[in-house]
Amino acid sequence: MLEKLNDIEHLGLDALEQVNNEAELEAWRVAHLGRNSGLTQLFNDFGKLSREERPLVGQRANEVKKHLESGFVSRSGEIQQAALTHSIEHERLDVTLPGRRLPLGRLHPDTMILRELYRIFGDMGFQVYRSREVESDEYNFQLLNFPVGHPARDMQDTYFVESGQKLDNPVVLRTHTSPGQIRAMREYSARNPHNPPPVRIVLPGMAYRYEQVDARHETQFDQIEGLAVGPGITFSDLKGTLADLARRLFGQNVRTRFRASFFPFTEPSAEFDIECFLCGGKGCNVCGGGWLEIGGCGMVHPVVLTNGGYDPEIYTGFAFGLGPQRIAMLRYGINDIRYFWENDLRFLEQF
Ligand code: DAH
Repeated sequence: MLEKLNDIEHLGLDALEQVNNEAELEAWRVAHLGRNSGLTQLFNDFGKLSREERPLVGQRANEVKKHLESGFVSRSGEIQQAALTHSIEHERLDVTLPGRRLPLGRLHPDTMILRELYRIFGDMGFQVYRSREVESDEYNFQLLNFPVGHPARDMQDTYFVESGQKLDNPVVLRTHTSPGQIRAMREYSARNPHNPPPVRIVLPGMAYRYEQVDARHETQFDQIEGLAVGPGITFSDLKGTLADLARRLFGQNVRTRFRASFFPFTEPSAEFDIECFLCGGKGCNVCGGGWLEIGGCGMVHPVVLTNGGYDPEIYTGFAFGLGPQRIAMLRYGINDIRYFWENDLRFLEQF
């Protein structure tokens, strides 16, 4: 028995020397101190010993157990220390290295110019009115004085989605923000049909239509529509508002001009140009002749006022529809409108 204990002790301690990591250590513990180890077996066989043998063997067995256990503890400490040293040596952090820069988001130039326009129009007393992008032919054209088959519809050619029985009223992605004029006037006039309140709003948002795509035309673009309705509003109010907008955007000396034009929903109608800063007014591939067209405008047509619930004998109004991206092009020196939705970070990161 005693010899067997010596063997257990030597074998165990020798094996412990070979142990190099936590997993091996655990395997060693199971083999040498666990329930099926030689030592435990020996304790179980204790009853077979004679009275005289028992104290001697018992004492020695406890001693062996203690040796193995303390060997285990100290080997375990050594292994942990080695792992720590290894990680300190091999996974060293160099805190003097420069950090990784977090990419910061920013506003899209279109959002930036829209916010600036809201602020300027807000200062002038205009509220932002949001209207829908999915429209009916009725609102997009008919109520704006483009009857079915009117030739002015050609300027805003697009796709139509038939809607059941209503053959004359297909669904359409709005081709301009002007249908919002009717929606807003109807909402306002419904509040007090006999004495509708004055209107002073801007209507921003996307418009969709056929365009020959080039440096200043896209088939999807932002517009910001303006509408002021009240007693005694004149064309000079319109001119003053747009000229003031240009000054607030580009400074006191900016040159602007109005050209006579035609829109079914305004009479008279004009187009509003700002001197092209991209070429200094000389003429370039963006502006053509030194002026960049920023939008259309005019006095609200009596038919449109009536359709909105405003009596044209009492009320007059002006309206305009501007292209914020055209304004952003002048503002930031962007020479091609196609950059806006191209999602090229080299462009977007410049703002
Ligand atoms: N809706 C016109 C277009 O997209 C622009 C326009 C012209 C809007 C004159 C107006 C306006 O409000 O008065 O071509």
